[in-house]
Order: sequence, then structure tokens, then C-alpha cells
Amino acid sequence: MKRRWLVPCALLLFLLVSCKGKTNEGPEPSLEFTDEGRAVAKISLSELTRQIQTETFTAFDPYYGKTKTYRALPFDKVMKLGFKGMSSLDDKEIVLRARDGYTVPFRPALANEPGSYIAVEDVESPSWDPIGPQKANPGPFYFVWKEPSQQNLETHPRPWQLAQIEIARFEVKFPHTVPTGEPTGSLALKGYDLFRDRCFRCHAVNREGGRVGPDLSLPKNVLEYRTEAEVRAYIKNPLAIRYGNMPPHPDLTDADLDALIGYLSAMKSRKHDLDAGAPAPGAPP
Ligand code: HEC
Repeated sequence: MKRRWLVPCALLLFLLVSCKGKTNEGPEPSLEFTDEGRAVAKISLSELTRQIQTETFTAFDPYYGKTKTYRALPFDKVMKLGFKGMSSLDDKEIVLRARDGYTVPFRPALANEPGSYIAVEDVESPSWDPIGPQKANPGPFYFVWKEPSQQNLETHPRPWQLAQIEIARFEVKFPHTVPTGEPTGSLALKGYDLFRDRCFRCHAVNREGGRVGPDLSLPKNVLEYRTEAEVRAYIKNPLAIRYGNMPPHPDLTDADLDALIGYLSAMKSRKHDLDAGAPAPGAPP
């Protein structure tokens, strides 16, 4: 029986030995740092934990619904290391990107909140407990928050399988999401603000943004095939309409919904579709 493992073990040992020393390539997980699309650093897990003192703490994790103990890198230290030498990050949006394309824009104020960490080890379960409806493995880089006031997934998102941290001015990164020409204080601009905070990590507008949910403006703007009332109801509580993967937003007020509708509506006349006319993905040639 035991001999069956001899060859795989020897192979594994060989792989481990041959990977050692190569910190920036090979199968060792690493985080990429980019500045408005330009790669500035790629740092391996071992290098990150060598350069940054990890902290181990126990905190409630809303994804698991219980307390978890993580060994984690303070997020501000990760940013300092990855973007070494950059004068100020304060005016930049931080865009966290997971391996599966999940994109989380962080306003600078959110990123600067103390209590943000990148967990690199689930201490009680070193192979990581599966997370979310997809039963994904959140490692090797799982964004977590420490404080009791940071447990709302909507306001304090926790992207898992983090692959890339980008800094960018939002308008530069996602130029076609801007309701250009709308006056300051307009509903469309208020909605844009809210949309950036709450929706972009899952939804794209004009193909820019998250890919978890559908693009809400292309090829048809959602307000071109659903009534305003339907869209409002959907945003507030999608699960009352169909079982899917969009979380309910019970905290949004009527004024918030007005603003979101104002934004989506403004984007009806600001379509930017590079793929218009191209065959749909998966369509027969
Ligand atoms: C965690 C990811 C996620 C977040 C955050 C999210 N959505 Fe969604 N949304 C989805 C998914 C996935 C769908 C596809 C249907 C489903 O699974 O419910 C969807 C569907 C929709 C639809 C229906 C589209 C259609 O054609 O039927 C609308 C409208 C919508 N979302 C608007 C929003 C708005 C506005 C926000 C921000 C307040 C938001 N969503 C936040 C994931 C998300």
C-alpha cells in the first residue's frame, strides 16, 4: 500500500526543491501590483511574509458565520511594499481583482480604514475551509476585516483568491462608466457614486467593471427591457423575484434608488460598445 505513494512523494519533493529560490515565478502564489495598468511589482507569498510582519487574530467572518483565526498581512503595509516609492496613494482608487475576475473598487477612504488585512493562512484549517455558494478556496490571499464594525459584506467587501491590486483614478480605469456632462449634484452623479461603492464590483457598465452579474448597459440598458419599478424592486430584494446570486440591499433608501435609477437611465444615451455587431460569445460561426 505505502509504496504507491513513493513515486508521487518523490515527485512532489522534487517539485518543491526545484521551485525553491525562484521567488517571482513558478507555482508559488504571488500578488501583482499595477498602477493604471502598468505592472510595478509582483511579490510572492514568501517574500510578502518575509518583509511584512504578519498578525494573527480571531474575528467574526460573515462568510463563514463564525469567528475565524487568521494569520494576516496588514493591508497598508502590503500597499507600501507593493507601491514602494509612490508619493501618495490618497487620490487613487484601489481596485482589487480576484483570479476569477471579481473586481472590487475601494474608495481611498475605505482602503485607509484600520482593520483591513490580507489573510494568508486560516490558522485552524491550513488548507482553508471552502467559502460562499461556489465552495471556493479563499486562499492564498483572502481580504478580511478585523473590527466588529467591519462585518457588513456590502460596505466592507472581502474578495477572496486575490490576484492583483491596482491603483488608478476611477475615471481613468473605467472611463465609459462616467455619466459625462451631468451637472454636479444631479441624480445621475449621486447614483454613480453609489454604484461605484455598491454595484461595480459585480456589474459592468459599458463592459467596464465586475463580471459576476450582467453588464447593466449593453447591449441593452436594463431600463430598456425592464420597467423602473421592476429594477427598483430587483435592487432592493432580488431574491423575492428569482433565486440568484445578487445580494439584497435592504438598507438602500428610496432616495438611493432614485439616484441609482438616475444613473442607469443616464447611461442609456452613453453606450460604448466595441463589440456591437460581433457574434455573441458561443454563437455559431
Ligand atoms: C455580489 C454581486 C452583486 C452585487 C454587489 C450587485 N449585483 Fe446586481 N446582480 C448580480 C447578479 C449575479 C445578477 C444576475 C441575476 C441574479 O443572480 O440575481 C444581478 C442582477 C441585477 C439586475 C437585474 C438585471 C436583469 O437583467 O435582470 C439589476 C437591475 C441589478 N443586478 C442591479 C444592481 C445594482 C444597482 C447593484 C448595486 C446597488 C447591484 N446590482 C449589486 C450580482 C450583484
